[in-house]
Amino acid sequence: MSFQRTYASRNRTSLPSSPPSSLSSSPVACQKRKRPLEESLENLTAPAAKQPKNFLEKPKLKAKQTAKPKSKAKTFTQLHFCIDQTILRTCPLCALSYTKGAQDDESLHKAHCARVQKGMEWGREEEKEKTKAGVVEVASGIKLKDGKKGRIICFKADANCKIGSKLSILLDTINITLSSPPLSPSILHVSKAYLFLVPSITSPSREKIIGCVIAQRISTAMAIATPAEVAACAPSSDAESTPISTALVDTRSGIFCHPAALPTPLGIPRLFVSSAHRRQGVASKLLSAAAETFVYGCKLDPRQGQVAFSQPTGDGSAVMHRWGGGGVRIYEE
Ligand SMILES: CC(C)(COP(=O)(O)OP(=O)(O)OC[C@H]1O[C@@H](n2cnc3c(N)ncnc32)[C@H](O)[C@@H]1OP(=O)(O)O)[C@@H](O)C(=O)NCCC(=O)NCCS
Ligand SMILES: [Zn+2]
Repeated sequence: MSFQRTYASRNRTSLPSSPPSSLSSSPVACQKRKRPLEESLENLTAPAAKQPKNFLEKPKLKAKQTAKPKSKAKTFTQLHFCIDQTILRTCPLCALSYTKGAQDDESLHKAHCARVQKGMEWGREEEKEKTKAGVVEVASGIKLKDGKKGRIICFKADANCKIGSKLSILLDTINITLSSPPLSPSILHVSKAYLFLVPSITSPSREKIIGCVIAQRISTAMAIATPAEVAACAPSSDAESTPISTALVDTRSGIFCHPAALPTPLGIPRLFVSSAHRRQGVASKLLSAAAETFVYGCKLDPRQGQVAFSQPTGDGSAVMHRWGGGGVRIYEE
């Protein structure tokens, strides 16, 4: 058997019950408060569900047997009040868990949910600082499937000032959505952020950031094995056929790779499009812009194995295959 699990020890972090520190005034307090609550809910639901049966059956039996109650013996039933049960909510739109009724939690959720669905704003303040942050427009007048037109800008992912803080909030939102850890300063230092902007409906002087790709300089990545190569590696395969050395990466999307580290210049550690703008081609346009402009004067071709993704999600895999025509590789962040 030649399968080997390479990413298993580096699973994405589990979804926090509250956003990370930059989004919350007291995140630790929130998490500490919520974890025991979830556990206590689990403990409470089982006995509570069983009780109504006994409770309802007993009077029925009594009514059949006797017209008048002869015995004075009473049975007592323990009742449980699950007053906390309705407080913890998991939003179906952004998957964030928060405490209903807690003002801080509710407002953090509202802001996060709006960013996931509609994106963040790119306004006058950001435009003023664009030269300082080295913002470059890499494509304009890009037509999406719904007819909207937008542009793509690019800047260093470790930019300071207002644009840097805006990117940090965007990355926090993306990390919560993907249940991923934050990108380290050393990764950000060798990365560029590509943002897809469309005109804001409410204000003509503002734009909305509806998509983001982080493009990272990497050195090596692994080639994805074809279904035929994976099948040839299966234990039931013909004993006479030559075994292919294949490693299993990312158990979530079940992608098999050849373990050889191949020289690869571009890695995509984060890819996100706000939910109201998906399936319009935003991710594909951002990826093409990154591949064409990441290395100055040299267009990279995903079909030639010059681009790699790190741990793609199910949706990420779909884009990766469609956009890269099967040539995209996999790397470890
Ligand atoms: C994955 C994601 C970035 C895709 O963005 P997008 O702008 O909708 O992608 P595109 O419109 O460019 O999709 C291009 C093609 O990829 C495939 N694809 C994209 N999303 C898909 C999905 N959810 N299911 C099936 N195929 C999908 C389709 O073939 C699509 O072409 P089509 O719409 O003509 O059928 C977006 O769904 C997202 O942000 N998801 C949450 C975060 C995430 O999972 N990120 C990926 C990390 S690796
Ligand atoms: Zn939400």
